[in-house]
Amino acid sequence: MPLDGLNRRNKRDAQKARRPIPTVRRMDFDFDDIPKHWFGNNAFATHVSNGLHLLFPDGERFFVRSVRHYLGQIQDPALRDSVEAFFGQEGSHAREHQRTFEILKSQGLDVDKFLAAYRRFAFEWLEPKFPPSMRLAVTAAAEHFTATFAHGGLTTSDLDDAHPAMRALLLWHAAEEVEHKSVAYDVFMEVDGRYSVRAFGMIAAFLVISGLWTVSALSLMRDDPDVSVARLVKDYRGMEVPGNVGSFRMLGMLVDYLAPGFHPDQLDDYQIARDYLASVGRLEA
Ligand SMILES: [Fe+2]
Ligand SMILES: [Fe+2]
Repeated sequence: MPLDGLNRRNKRDAQKARRPIPTVRRMDFDFDDIPKHWFGNNAFATHVSNGLHLLFPDGERFFVRSVRHYLGQIQDPALRDSVEAFFGQEGSHAREHQRTFEILKSQGLDVDKFLAAYRRFAFEWLEPKFPPSMRLAVTAAAEHFTATFAHGGLTTSDLDDAHPAMRALLLWHAAEEVEHKSVAYDVFMEVDGRYSVRAFGMIAAFLVISGLWTVSALSLMRDDPDVSVARLVKDYRGMEVPGNVGSFRMLGMLVDYLAPGFHPDQLDDYQIARDYLASVGRLEA
């Protein structure tokens, strides 16, 4: 093997070695008494976050399907163990986020209409149009997307104003997204690895997720009788971290993903996730 290729391979192996096998945790958050505008009484921030609750369960099941398709082709036993843990973690995330649907319904928000349209568009119409390699590339890119948000949630005060139970849900999810952030990427590199497919996966994931997230948040804002456009504008202006600052931060990380030598472990934040999980007594299952 040429030296260049060998160096690349050694670098990749060293990167893989940094990722511990993720831990699957069963959680049962206490969602009683969540106020309607649970993000510091800020309706804009609340519905942007609620929009994510709506996207996660079905989105994470798609991630699992996309990776499971290649399970038989994964040669590296450590990666296979990580993949099994990835399935378990995403299953737990889907379950806990799905529990928030009942809260939103009890607050008078019609989540079923959005969910039905989301499932029809994303998983019945769009998903079959993509070949398996592209679905895996979209998943690897979406995992970078979630890991980017997770890193922000764990390292800034952005979630300080959220209701404690919602904050605990989002930070637990964030920590586990960091724990398994390179799993889908490593599967993609093992079974395909083409740069063009990886880059297309990122562009598709970015467009689909940002589009769906915008629609989910807007549908919740529209359905909320306690929210006016004036209130939304006021709440948006009152946010400590305006959405556009977060978007710029995120855009920078998305550009990183398109670099030819990118690997998720180049940002080594595993200890940050472990520190958070230890602080809430959940480092072990
Ligand atoms: Fe997740
Ligand atoms: Fe994930």
